[in-house]
Amino acid sequence: MRPKRIAILGSTGSVGRQALDLIRDQGELFQVVALTAGKNVDLLARQAREFRPLLIACGDPARAGQLRERCGNGKIHVQAGPEGLRAAATLPEADLVLACIVGAAGLESTFAAVRAGKSVALANKEALVMAGGLMIDSARERGAKLLPVDSEHSALHQCLRGEKRSEVARLVLTASGGPFFRSSAAALADVTPEAALRHPTWKMGPKITIDSATLMNKGLEVIEAHWLFAIPEERISIVVHPQSIVHSLVEFVDGSWICQMGVADMRFPIQYALSHPDRMPSRLQTLRLEELPPLEFLAPDPARFPCPGLARDAIRAGGTAPAVLNAANEVAVDRFLHGGIPFPAIPQVIQEVLEQHEPRPVTGLEDIMAADRKARDAARAAVERRT
Ligand SMILES: NC(=O)c1ccc[n+]([C@@H]2O[C@H](COP(=O)([O-])OP(=O)(O)OC[C@H]3O[C@@H](n4cnc5c(N)ncnc54)[C@H](OP(=O)(O)O)[C@@H]3O)[C@@H](O)[C@H]2O)c1
Repeated sequence: MRPKRIAILGSTGSVGRQALDLIRDQGELFQVVALTAGKNVDLLARQAREFRPLLIACGDPARAGQLRERCGNGKIHVQAGPEGLRAAATLPEADLVLACIVGAAGLESTFAAVRAGKSVALANKEALVMAGGLMIDSARERGAKLLPVDSEHSALHQCLRGEKRSEVARLVLTASGGPFFRSSAAALADVTPEAALRHPTWKMGPKITIDSATLMNKGLEVIEAHWLFAIPEERISIVVHPQSIVHSLVEFVDGSWICQMGVADMRFPIQYALSHPDRMPSRLQTLRLEELPPLEFLAPDPARFPCPGLARDAIRAGGTAPAVLNAANEVAVDRFLHGGIPFPAIPQVIQEVLEQHEPRPVTGLEDIMAADRKARDAARAAVERRT
């Protein structure tokens, strides 16, 4: 059997690097055909020398020259900018596109892969949050398959294998709760970026780590689950499970529950998406049940962590509102990371921007991009007012 040919959008990030670790270990089953980065051309060039893809691209056009200098032996096609990312996303030789660029920066390329009818292993949840309706309609129209990479959605995908959607009562997403789940409201005001970047159970890129600390990650995941599994938002719950062993659960109409469990290691859900519909033997250490700590399941506190509620407001408002939520969150998280606003201001900025926004219907990607640009301006102004 010929190897499955993989394009990785965002290969220099946390998910991208872990995917390449798996591919390195399972060399005979996969072939890397495209790799992309934003700015990190040093690492991209090293990855390209090791995996010998057909195409590499960096999002930042100013770095195309540097990338060509490092990989310009004529065998690897080098591109840059949005066209470069789109070329990697739609490469005819790719069987599967792993979309793991972070944030709205991944929207166009993820959408291009769907429009090209590719199977897409989706880590870039923000693309689905921003443009869920468009993405799902396009996937249906073009025969593209969307496979979740997020551990919670991978868990739900596994729980729902062979089940009738009409027999699902509700989906339950687990949340680690992040580093401040037990902190008082007063203590949250003094949280530093360094403390927020120390996640108790998962090692991830900076943006998603802050999203986990505010619980916005769970809000984005409710929207993601709504689109991926066609379940209304009100039938998707969140439970805090600090041990991160149960990755999500499904309750069925007959009162039965199915959950998926595993070690908190992103390589498991990445491998599931890469090997789907098959399961591949894993060389990673798996669970030892006798050694597990007691498992807790607790209700999240909406007063200290308002972000999931804001995400629910956005999906209920519909149209451009989820794209606005995402844009305001990206600006607020970036400013928090650079010391510009305190931790509790993140939800305040998002709420302010959402309240100013009049949701519009979405007819194409341009509607989403326009709402994104406007929301970023509004979020910058809201940040400005706090400094
Ligand atoms: N990390 C996890 O464990 C995890 C778990 C579940 C879901 N996810 C989701 O997976 C996605 C990636 O997360 P991550 O933690 O891997 O992020 P990350 O470590 O920050 O990596 C982000 C990747 O996106 C690239 N990138 C950033 N801005 C870009 C731009 N403007 N144009 C092109 N490429 C750009 C980066 O390139 P450079 O390196 O050149 O900057 C890097 O390859 C996110 O949507 C996240 O929510 C991650």
